[in-house]
Amino acid sequence: MVDLSVTIGGVRFKNPIVVGSATPTMNALGMKKGIEGGAGSVIAKSLFGDSGKLGRQFPRPRFKLFDYREYPGYPDKLPHSFTLRSLEECSSFDYETYMKDINKAKELVGDSGVIIASLSAATMDEWITMCRMVNETKADFVELNNSCPFAADMGVKMGAGAVDLTAQFIKACKEVLTKPFSVKITPQTNDPVSVAKQVEQAGAYAVNMSARLAGIMIDIETASPIAFGSQAGYGGPYLIGYGLKMVSQAAKELKIPIIAGLGVWDWQDIIRYTMVGATLVQSGVGIMLQGYNVSKKWQDQMTAWMEAKGYGSLDEIRGIALKNIVKTADVPRKPTNVGMAIDVAKCTRCGVCLKSCFYDAITLTKAGAIINTKKCDVCGMCAEVCPTYAPYMVKR
Ligand SMILES: Cc1cc2nc3c(=O)[nH]c(=O)nc-3n(C[C@H](O)[C@H](O)[C@H](O)COP(=O)(O)O)c2cc1C
Ligand code: SF4
Ligand code: SF4
Repeated sequence: MVDLSVTIGGVRFKNPIVVGSATPTMNALGMKKGIEGGAGSVIAKSLFGDSGKLGRQFPRPRFKLFDYREYPGYPDKLPHSFTLRSLEECSSFDYETYMKDINKAKELVGDSGVIIASLSAATMDEWITMCRMVNETKADFVELNNSCPFAADMGVKMGAGAVDLTAQFIKACKEVLTKPFSVKITPQTNDPVSVAKQVEQAGAYAVNMSARLAGIMIDIETASPIAFGSQAGYGGPYLIGYGLKMVSQAAKELKIPIIAGLGVWDWQDIIRYTMVGATLVQSGVGIMLQGYNVSKKWQDQMTAWMEAKGYGSLDEIRGIALKNIVKTADVPRKPTNVGMAIDVAKCTRCGVCLKSCFYDAITLTKAGAIINTKKCDVCGMCAEVCPTYAPYMVKR
């Protein structure tokens, strides 16, 4: 019997899957669907302080997908790499409506899931006001969101534009908050791990790593940004590599739990994040494009995999990849006992590898591609680009 539950700040999460703060959690009904869909918890769409209330109104449209529908086999098969641009800063609710909605969500969900309120302010007064109000709600947990990728571009000192205030606002909120809380940080800083350490030192119960990036895509016909005319949220499954790096580095330095989640697209990604030290794993884009019920599927798939491997709980997996991640300086250099060869029986003479061999080591013969071992650097590119997997590494 596999136990997927985890506990943070005395709050029990029945599984590590979190519906991240985004469109799916914009109101109580969405949060209820998130829990019914199989997640253990939901982070409500963030409430911005009044100084950022411009963000309560969204442009139309507010989503733009790149390299998504173009994928062969769509919609039965979905790509693993695409970009979702969006301009949806915060909840459209004012303070009072937000707090009522959080209560409604908890009433709808009961004990079947954890409701996390998410607050994001630009001044200390706003932080304190919102913390006092959330104390009075039925929220199980609170997230202080200092991660918005583009609030600063709205003229509001918040999120990616307010990293310097991290420790200060957490300490002020901790004085007031009566509920356990996490702090969500931005990946758009030189050193997110040092920000995560500030979060821990300032007294948060957990750190959420992280929000997405802000980006711009230019349409060359109009010489203008596509969709919104401005920068916007920019992310997708391709960000998982950055997320895993960030979390693996933080996990080595922190004692508090990490809520991970950047680029989660399938159940393996949840295991990956757990293996580098995450306690909870959130999904934003993954749930937005695969629906609330994908959490149930991920949960079943994780459980089946863990059962097959003989794992009884997530504690047995958490952090097990960390010992296998070496420092870049420790990667073995210039091994002399390896070479590259081509299985001519597999070669179709397509010529693809020739374009990517920068050592001019490949010649196309009538029989197929052959490698000049004196020129070959064993860089491995031909093996990566060949459509038929004909090149292969050999030990000398
Ligand atoms: C449309 C959209 C709206 C979002 N709104 C919020 C928000 O209100 N508050 C917040 O903390 N994060 C927000 N996020 C960020 C997500 O919660 C999540 O951190 C981010 O998308 C990374 O996870 P993912 O790669 O699974 O999407 C939003 C993301 C998207 C795509
Ligand atoms: S391993 Fe690199 S250098 Fe050698 S043949 Fe392939 S692409 Fe060229
Ligand atoms: S890419 Fe592969 S199939 Fe094409 S020529 Fe090179 S080895 Fe042959």
